[in-house]
Amino acid sequence: MTNVVVVGCQWGDEGKGKLVDYLSGKADVIVRFQGGNNAGHTIVIDEKVFKLSLLPSGIIREGKLSIIGNGVVLDPWALREEIETLTKLGVNVTEYNLLIAENVPLILSFHKDLDLLREARAGSTKIGTTGRGIGPAYEDKVGRRAIRLSDLENPKALRARLERSLEHHNILRKGYGKSVIEEGEILNQLEEISTFVSKFSTPVWRVLNNKNKEGANILFEGAQGSLLDVDFGTYPFVTSSNTMAASSSLGSGFAAQKIDFVLGVVKAYTTRVGEGPFPTELKNDKVGFHLETVGHEKGTVTGRNRRCGWFDASLVKQSCILNGVNGIAITKLDVLDSLKELKICVGYEINGELHGYLPSSIHSFEEIKPVYEFYEGWDDTTEGISSFEKLPSNAITYLRRIEELVGCPISSISTSPEREDLVHLRDPFEESIK
Ligand code: IMP
Repeated sequence: MTNVVVVGCQWGDEGKGKLVDYLSGKADVIVRFQGGNNAGHTIVIDEKVFKLSLLPSGIIREGKLSIIGNGVVLDPWALREEIETLTKLGVNVTEYNLLIAENVPLILSFHKDLDLLREARAGSTKIGTTGRGIGPAYEDKVGRRAIRLSDLENPKALRARLERSLEHHNILRKGYGKSVIEEGEILNQLEEISTFVSKFSTPVWRVLNNKNKEGANILFEGAQGSLLDVDFGTYPFVTSSNTMAASSSLGSGFAAQKIDFVLGVVKAYTTRVGEGPFPTELKNDKVGFHLETVGHEKGTVTGRNRRCGWFDASLVKQSCILNGVNGIAITKLDVLDSLKELKICVGYEINGELHGYLPSSIHSFEEIKPVYEFYEGWDDTTEGISSFEKLPSNAITYLRRIEELVGCPISSISTSPEREDLVHLRDPFEESIK
């Protein structure tokens, strides 16, 4: 009985999907606890590509229970589409392998409208959201006007909640010069999807705690990354949920002290989609272009090109501390193959002062100068290597220095998109730190 949380320690897209896919082989239950269909996980198995957005990555393994916790914001139409796509790929999703928290808030059509309206109006101050209605849905949750999954079972309560929610949204819509929404329109939409989505609804906190008592291994799958956390990320260029390991508890109803191991996933370099500060970014740069093209750095959800840069050890160290990371997994090492020289950021010079972390009070991010250490690259390919000793010696030096700088041992290294291509040093399920 071991409970493991996997989180991203950069700006998302660290390759968590592959690690979660590997670890879900050892887990009985796989849980999503925050975010929504703004996430994008790509898993490649025998050249078959599975793109997941809302469903836990464990869904593609037979005999596993996947859970969407209350900390997620659920777009039921996006869920149906994702399930239909998986069905075509031969993955069967039913209420026997998927459960959804009855108290999960729903993303409705007006949340997406509002997300897009705001971004369009923001001009140069836009956040670069995924446009999936994530922010407005979380706002409604804390504003106590969300429609939750269990509301679909009670038409009277649903109508009352919707009335309250639409009162708020129609005022906003009028302000934006958009047509108001009639209650009947949303009720019809919800009625149409209700039977499909309600069959998955259950008090998942009970299921999880019972599974724990029975001795199950539970895997919590984080979405986005720590630097997109609404409290500790590069605010306001963040997502609207807490993306840290601690959310696995509140976002599912599973006590935090039962977590045994936190695995922090990082790329061997850094990427970011959307706006916001990125101290080590390689803009209009040959190496940046190499990372983008060799690493296929295009967002899974929106198809936007990801911004690329050097590995930032200061930010990853910050994330490791905030998450209580016990081990890191480094992905896409092979993308660095053939680069002559590598840089690792070890701090910042801000207005002439040295900082070992990114202060949240910094508004003028252009004034940040990264401080770098330089490393020799390697000519041999690391692609597909699955034993640490077989890695080129310069790659080992690079990895060992990252371990030192971020203050956390390496658990795994990924050397290609394929499921099997992983170097294992420590296994979270077998070597959990109790
Ligand atoms: P939102 O989550 O759609 O509100 O977008 C807020 C910010 O988070 C934007 O910069 C998005 O690009 C970023 N973001 C949201 N989800 C992901 C993800 O899964 N990977 C990387 N960036 C993301």
